[in-house]
Amino acid sequence: LPPTEEIAALVAAKLNLEGPLLPILHELQETYGYIPENALGIMAEALNITRAEVHGVVSFYHDFRSRPAGRHVIKICRAEACQAMGGAALGAAVLERLGVEWHGTTPDGAITIEPIYCLGLCACGPAAMVDGRLIGRATFETVIEPIGERVK
Ligand code: FES
Repeated sequence: LPPTEEIAALVAAKLNLEGPLLPILHELQETYGYIPENALGIMAEALNITRAEVHGVVSFYHDFRSRPAGRHVIKICRAEACQAMGGAALGAAVLERLGVEWHGTTPDGAITIEPIYCLGLCACGPAAMVDGRLIGRATFETVIEPIGERVK
């Protein structure tokens, strides 16, 4: 876990903003790639809210991770238009073949699978994003191919 003093400094730097929680969370995720467990209490204390409230916000926004991601991140659209165009089957196939759950990372740390809710590619569903690159009419092959690491 990152040092407490370092997190406290990041939090303190944003405290004067109006509605500081989201900016703080974005800053933490940008800095560490995830929201460290020990940051929850620091934020709660600084903002005078409960740890559960902070946790609620972190889990409400799908963009925040509570664990570091793998070397590659595959986001698969789970919003309605894509679900209707094979997105559910795509998600299920990717999870099954990589042996992970949503938000999970393969044991070798290579790939994290995350749900996302609309990538603006609804006309070419199912949509996915691999390391920030959009993929329309996605299949298991086209989401795995750009990664180039051996996938079992
Ligand atoms: Fe999947 Fe819009 S619903 S990209």
